Amino acid sequence: MGLITTYSPLALDGGPKAVTLPFRDRWEAVGEDEIAAVTALLEGVRAGRRGWYDILDQFEQEFAAFVGTRFALAHCNGTATLHAALFAAGVTAGDEVVVPSYTWHASISPILHCGGTPVYCDIDRRTFTADPADVEARITPRTRAIVVTHIFGNPARMDTLRAVAERQGVLLIEDASHAHGATYGGTPVGAIGDIGCFSLQASKAVSAVEGGMATTKDPDLYDRMLVLGHYGRIQKKLATERFRELHDIGLGVKYRANPLGMAMAQAQLRRLPEVNARRNAWFAGLNGLLADLPGFAPQQVYPDAVRGGLLLYTGAFDPAVTGVPTPAILKALIAEGVNCQPGITPFGYGRMHLEPAFSDFPFPGLGGPWGAPGGDGRRACPAGSLPASEWLAANAFWMNTPVDPAPELIEQVSDAFHKVVANVDRLRVGQE
Ligand SMILES: Cc1ncc(COP(=O)(O)O)c(C=O)c1O
Repeated sequence: MGLITTYSPLALDGGPKAVTLPFRDRWEAVGEDEIAAVTALLEGVRAGRRGWYDILDQFEQEFAAFVGTRFALAHCNGTATLHAALFAAGVTAGDEVVVPSYTWHASISPILHCGGTPVYCDIDRRTFTADPADVEARITPRTRAIVVTHIFGNPARMDTLRAVAERQGVLLIEDASHAHGATYGGTPVGAIGDIGCFSLQASKAVSAVEGGMATTKDPDLYDRMLVLGHYGRIQKKLATERFRELHDIGLGVKYRANPLGMAMAQAQLRRLPEVNARRNAWFAGLNGLLADLPGFAPQQVYPDAVRGGLLLYTGAFDPAVTGVPTPAILKALIAEGVNCQPGITPFGYGRMHLEPAFSDFPFPGLGGPWGAPGGDGRRACPAGSLPASEWLAANAFWMNTPVDPAPELIEQVSDAFHKVVANVDRLRVGQE
C-alpha cells in the first residue's frame, strides 16, 4: 500500500488520483487468431473449399468436448439458448420456474415467452448465487425447472442444487453466460445441470460478438432445442427419431448462429485457459491486497468451485461497518480512477423481481402471474421479500477485469480502496 497516496486528500476533494495507469481491459480483444479464423472461413468459402455452416458442426463438437457433454448447439445469442432450454424443459402456461432475481434479465424473460411464471429465489450473500435452501422452499407441484446463474463467473452451489432438482423431480438449467471454463467439484459448468446455456456476446470470455451455445447430455432435450430453432440443420443433427416428421422446418423459429461469429468464438475458446488464468491472477491478487479492508468483502467462491470466464470482479461494502451508504464510497473510488460501477444499474441485478415486465405488467399473450390460464393472478414479490438480493443490489459493485494489466495497476487499485476507506469519515460529512 502506498502510504503517501493513502493519506493524501481524496480525489473527490482535489487530491491526486490513486489510479493513474490504464486498465488495458481486453474484454473485446481481437487477436491474430481471431482475425485468422474469420479470414480462413471467408477465404475457404470464396475458394469453394468449405460451406458457410461447416464451422457450426466443428465448433459444436469442440465446445461439447470442452464442457464434457454429448451435445452442444450453437445459437444466435445466449438469450435464445435460454429460451430453447426452457422450451425443451417443457415449460408452458401455468408452470413455474424458480430463478434468482440476482441475474441478467435474459435468465428470466424466456420463462414468460414459454408461458411460464418466474418464481424468485434469494441468493447466498457471500457468493451472489442461488441459495439452495431458498430454491427448494419455493418449489411447488407446478414447478417445472430451476434456472441458476453462475454470476460473474462464480459457480452456484451445484452439488446441493443438483440434489434439490433430483429430489423434487424438476429440471436444472445452468445460465453459464458469465462462466466459461468454470468448474464445480471438478466438473465444468454447463455439464452439471440438465442443460447449460452460454452467452458468447462481445463482453464474454468467449465471444462471437453475438452468439450462444447450449449444452446437454440428453438426446431428447437436445432434439427439442434443435427442432425449436434450427431449421435446415434438423434432419442431419437429430439424435432420436422422435421429431423426424417435422422434416427440416421443425417449429420454424430461427436461432441459428452466424458462422463468422462462431469462427471467432472457436479461436477464443482455444485461448480461454490463458485468459482465465490471467483473470484469476488479478482476482487472487486483489483479494489478497484488500483482505483486511474494514467493511469490505469480495465475492466468495464455494470450496468445490473454480471460477471461469470471470466476467467482473465484484464485492460489497457493508454500510453497517463503513458508516456510509455504499454509493458514496463508489463515487469516491471512481474519482480515484477505479474502473468500477455500482451494483445498482439500469439492469437491476437483485431487483429483477421488481421489474414491471417480470412482476405486474399485464402483457397479453405472455406468461407470468397474469398470463397463466385459470391461474391465481399476480404473485407479488414485493420490495423486501428477497433480503440478500436487495442488500447486494444496494451494496455490491463491479469492476472490469484486466487481462493484461501493467504490474503496478493492482497496487494502485488497492491503494484507491485503502485511501477511500481511510477517509471514510470525510465521506460521512453531508450524509447525516
Ligand atoms: C447471465 C446472463 N444470461 C444471459 C445473457 C444473454 O446473453 P445474450 O446477450 O448473448 O443474449 C446474458 C448476457 O449478458 C447474461 O449476462
